[in-house]
Amino acid sequence: MVTFIYLLIATHLLFVGATCPTLCNCDLKDAIICRGTSIKDIGSLLLPSNFTYIHIMETLATEITDKSFGNMPVTLRLRLEANHLTSITRNAFKSFPHLKSLKLTDNKLKTLPAGMFDSLISLEQLFLDKNCLSSLHPNLFCCLQHLEELILNRNQLTSLPDELLKNLTKLISLNLSRNKISHLPMSIFSSLTKLKKLFLYDNQLVTITSSAFNKLGELLDLALYSNSIQFVAQDAFYHLPKLQSLKLSKNKLQLLPYGLFLHLPQLSTLTLYDNPLKELPDVLFGKMENLTSLWLYNTHLTTIPNFVFCNLTNLQLLVLTRNAQLDSLPKEAFSGLNNLLELSLHSNNLSSIDNDVFQNLQLLEKLSLYSNNLKVLSENMFYNLTKLQILHLNNSNLHTLPGQIFQELPSLQMVYLHSNPWACYCELTDFKMWFQQNQNKVYNPMSLVCDTPFTLSNISVLAAGESICHYTTAKQNNLDTTANSQTTSNIQSTYSYNNIEFTNVKTQPISYTTSPTATTWETRTIKNTVFFVMIPTTAIQDLNAGVLKPIPYVSNVPYNKIIFFLHLFNTVLQMFALFLCSVLLVLMRRLNNYFEGLTEPVVLLRILIPLDPVP
Ligand SMILES: *[C@@H]1O[C@H](CO)[C@@H](O)[C@H](O)[C@H]1NC(C)=O
Ligand SMILES: *[C@@H]1O[C@H](CO)[C@@H](O)[C@H](O)[C@H]1NC(C)=O
Ligand SMILES: *[C@@H]1O[C@H](CO)[C@@H](O)[C@H](O)[C@H]1NC(C)=O
Ligand SMILES: *[C@@H]1O[C@H](CO)[C@@H](O)[C@H](O)[C@H]1NC(C)=O
Ligand SMILES: *[C@@H]1O[C@H](CO)[C@@H](O)[C@H](O)[C@H]1NC(C)=O
Ligand SMILES: *[C@@H]1O[C@H](CO)[C@@H](O)[C@H](O)[C@H]1NC(C)=O
Ligand SMILES: *[C@@H]1O[C@H](CO)[C@@H](O)[C@H](O)[C@H]1NC(C)=O
Ligand SMILES: *[C@@H]1O[C@H](CO)[C@@H](O)[C@H](O)[C@H]1NC(C)=O
Ligand SMILES: *[C@@H]1O[C@H](CO)[C@@H](O)[C@H](O)[C@H]1NC(C)=O
Repeated sequence: MVTFIYLLIATHLLFVGATCPTLCNCDLKDAIICRGTSIKDIGSLLLPSNFTYIHIMETLATEITDKSFGNMPVTLRLRLEANHLTSITRNAFKSFPHLKSLKLTDNKLKTLPAGMFDSLISLEQLFLDKNCLSSLHPNLFCCLQHLEELILNRNQLTSLPDELLKNLTKLISLNLSRNKISHLPMSIFSSLTKLKKLFLYDNQLVTITSSAFNKLGELLDLALYSNSIQFVAQDAFYHLPKLQSLKLSKNKLQLLPYGLFLHLPQLSTLTLYDNPLKELPDVLFGKMENLTSLWLYNTHLTTIPNFVFCNLTNLQLLVLTRNAQLDSLPKEAFSGLNNLLELSLHSNNLSSIDNDVFQNLQLLEKLSLYSNNLKVLSENMFYNLTKLQILHLNNSNLHTLPGQIFQELPSLQMVYLHSNPWACYCELTDFKMWFQQNQNKVYNPMSLVCDTPFTLSNISVLAAGESICHYTTAKQNNLDTTANSQTTSNIQSTYSYNNIEFTNVKTQPISYTTSPTATTWETRTIKNTVFFVMIPTTAIQDLNAGVLKPIPYVSNVPYNKIIFFLHLFNTVLQMFALFLCSVLLVLMRRLNNYFEGLTEPVVLLRILIPLDPVP
């Protein structure tokens, strides 16, 4: 009987190394995969010992004990992902002498016992991400001398023990992102001389000290974005000669130290956006031949220093947008950017742009300035931009444009000018000439509408300008000219004159073959602008009948002021006259007293004109 039982156990043990457990799948060569919620205890699976890869996933197992696995001499990779593990005993992995990769991703681990990895001296990859780890024992990784990849992201770590990474001299990649780390011990990374990737984003770091990264001579990729960094030591990045990517966006940086990026010759990615930067130091960037794009949006910058980008000679894209306080750009702001292809300056508060600011950007193809506060642009602002193809000037509070502004742009394909409050006065005529001939280069040309004069608001610039200009001329010529009947006249509007509402009147140029005999001038004040409405008397009848529409001449001359001063002058004059009269009256009365009694008019005359000899 005893022999029988012994035999049974023996065959069972033999079978352990041979058959596939019922809840597992052994179809793949060398790999066993056990998954599903019917697995509640890993030990009860009785895993065969001759598999190189073991995957136990999405089970309800909550613990791994010293007895969960038998001896696994050939296993290289153990993946225990997405289970419900809350505890692992100290010697649980003792039976995997050759393990190279251990993945404990997506479990519910809160703590790990000290020494649990001590036997895994061949381990190269350790995944502990997506757990609830809040602290780590200082010696937890002390024996993992071959570890190359340590993944600790998505945990609850608030700090790291100074000694934690001391023996990880072969580490290449360290992912500590999405934790709550607020402080880095001085020399936490000092042994990681082979490290190439360091991810610290989405933590609560406040300060980056001088020595934090000074031993990481091989580092290529450093992600520090989405922290609360307020201060970075000036030389924090001075010992990273191979760094290619540095991400500092989404922090609380208000100031950057002088020369912060002077020694990063290999950098090809640099992010700084979403920082409340108030100003940039005069010297910030060193030579970075591989840096081709730079994004600086959502900052509190009000301007940028002259020459600040002058070392970035290979930059192709510069995005300096959504800086609500950025209101000026100095003359040499973009000096040195000789290879820039695209410059985005939209959604700032730019009102003064130096005339020469774009002059060096000889390869520029796209320039966007929309959503600013430009009002006017100078004629030679875009000179020398011979490669410029796309220009965004929409929604920039532009009232008018110089006629020559786009003439020097041989490559121009499309200019966006809509959503601007165009002032349809005579000054726009030169620009309109260009516009009429280049409608194919203007985005949605009919969407350019007048804002002023009041009576032309919302009327297409193409349709409106000329008639205004015509009447300006007509006024100068005392209405002697015959109206030019070519005037485009498909203007629809509502207009009220002398209480007569003209709705949707087709505007016609008032044309006369003979000079009108007299004109009536009407003034009225709308929105603080005095409108001089000029109507030839001969036209009044037609006007009242609704056949003609009066065409307003809106003047830039400050008539309200002139009228005010005229009134003032008039009043003063009247008062002076009054005063003179009073004086005269007093004098008369005195004279009267003097001559009291004398009744002969001759004597009176003699006294009044004493020098004249009596004839
Ligand atoms: C494990 O060993 C059994 C025999 O003992 C064999 O049939 C099976 O193919 C082996 N599996 C692997 C992955 O080597
Ligand atoms: C590093 O490993 C050695 C053994 O290789 C060990 O003696 C030492 O204590 C370890 N250092 C730390 C900080 O754990
Ligand atoms: C961080 O670790 C995760 C593993 O969970 C990995 O997928 C990711 O690529 C790593 N790096 C970054 C930059 O997130
Ligand atoms: C730029 O990057 C390329 C590889 O992408 C590299 O070969 C080259 O050396 C780099 N240039 C500089 C100046 O770092
Ligand atoms: C450009 O780089 C050189 C050397 O890298 C540095 O001395 C200089 O100050 C930098 N200039 C600016 C304007 O950043
Ligand atoms: C934008 O500039 C104008 C002056 O041009 C200023 O009044 C306004 O406050 C500025 N807006 C912001 C958000 O700074
Ligand atoms: C345009 O560029 C040329 C050199 O290509 C330069 O001599 C000239 O001064 C520039 N024009 C303006 C207006 O800056
Ligand atoms: C300006 O025009 C571009 C292209 O049509 C568009 O993407 C952008 O949203 C416009 N901006 C505004 C504020 O209208
Ligand atoms: C301007 O005209 C468009 C269509 O022609 C119309 O939809 C819009 O309401 C008008 N706006 C005003 C302020 O009249």
